[in-house]
Amino acid sequence: MSYYFPKDFLWGSACSAYQIEGAWNEGGKGMSCHDHYARLPEYAHYYEMGRPDSCSDFYHHYREDIDIMAEHGLKTFRLSFAWPRICPNGPDDVNQEAIDYYNDMLNYLLEKNIVPFMDLYHWDLPQWVLERGGATNYEFVEWFEKYARVCYAAFGDKVKYWSTVNEPNFSIFSGYYAVNGDGAGSFPPFEQDRTKAFTACHIMNLAHMRAVKAYREMGFGGKIGAVIDLFPMYPYSLSDERDIYAADRRFDFYAGKWLGPMLLGKYPEIFDDAYAQYMPENFQQEIADAYEEMDFIGDNYYGPGYARYTDATPEKFELCPDPEAGANGSWQEFVGMKVYPEGLYDILNLIHKKYHPKEIIVTENGVAFRRDEANPAVPTEIDDTRRIKYMRAHIMMLSRAIESGIPVKGYYTWAIEDTYEHGLGCNYDFGLIAINYDTMERTPRSSFKWYSEFIKANT
Ligand code: NOJ
Repeated sequence: MSYYFPKDFLWGSACSAYQIEGAWNEGGKGMSCHDHYARLPEYAHYYEMGRPDSCSDFYHHYREDIDIMAEHGLKTFRLSFAWPRICPNGPDDVNQEAIDYYNDMLNYLLEKNIVPFMDLYHWDLPQWVLERGGATNYEFVEWFEKYARVCYAAFGDKVKYWSTVNEPNFSIFSGYYAVNGDGAGSFPPFEQDRTKAFTACHIMNLAHMRAVKAYREMGFGGKIGAVIDLFPMYPYSLSDERDIYAADRRFDFYAGKWLGPMLLGKYPEIFDDAYAQYMPENFQQEIADAYEEMDFIGDNYYGPGYARYTDATPEKFELCPDPEAGANGSWQEFVGMKVYPEGLYDILNLIHKKYHPKEIIVTENGVAFRRDEANPAVPTEIDDTRRIKYMRAHIMMLSRAIESGIPVKGYYTWAIEDTYEHGLGCNYDFGLIAINYDTMERTPRSSFKWYSEFIKANT
């Protein structure tokens, strides 16, 4: 099969401020929720191998990193603004040093002809927000809109692709509920409370809509969407109707709680039965009233999930292992995720058919390899042929999706460089650029060279 890509396809790579920026207490930055919890001994294990205080120090190395991106012909770079850097102490506190820093960084990207795609919120909630109840407090909607307006006003002339939020399953929901099972959440404030989890989900959806509306009102003319971790949920047994029903409900729980409101102005049916008890009153009406159409949906795709029927809970689903595990030659490299490129086609097709977004951008896709435990400052596999194989297989699915009429407009590998990973520290290498954490030396991997040639051949 040959590839087919339009000439203006967005070929990119991504990262988030919190995972590469470092400089946690420089430039007038305030505390993020992670800066706070990483310093509490009882939560230190989530921040293994050092806190994300320095990471790859992109804050000080951005020119060098952007030079490498440009040398490799990258068309676009996706990053987030650090909310606690821009608003360190409260909703009305704007840090001019942060605005200047991001303006310099964006100017440098534009000088090198790299299109910036910026997320407003990718995991690093300001600690002042969390202390006021985070997204369980309806005032969150106002705080988020204010922050969004500050960013649009400061960077709107340079940034034409915006996302309101990245993977709120983790950064919002998982503060109160383990999204991949029952139990306490794995994000600050590490609580276990379904009412808070679902309330925070609802308030984040409202905040997203207000930020989209504000962007339109300010008239910058770019595109705005949201980034969700979207992957197919396959039934354990394809011949058991109840498993098919259960897998759909699991999908609606995991992805539908964002996709429904953001793209259709309505929560899926499972919210009217199993979850209504945890939602604020009139939640369906509030969403219908606030609904604001967005320009694209971003899909972070890593691997599929599996579910089967159970009578034991009102949800009627439970997670289960991949029935084909081990039998189909799939390979796993990163915390048990199955590498399954076909799943990318399946999810793009499902989003297109069921939710009809105007455009879809694959905002993340990638694979990580573990560092040598004895020498964790040194990166793994500079000659990463395994990653090239991974990228090629997924890009092939994109081509198939475009040929079958699905409006996919871009692809971002995760990650541009080795990152800090929540709960796993700096031990798993995702980067096209390898980082030595002792010397901060940057080395492009073979995969970046391959990607560079691929981009050249397909633009
Ligand atoms: C998705 C998240 O957006 C990103 O922050 C994370 O590092 C990758 N997945 C890999 O787990």
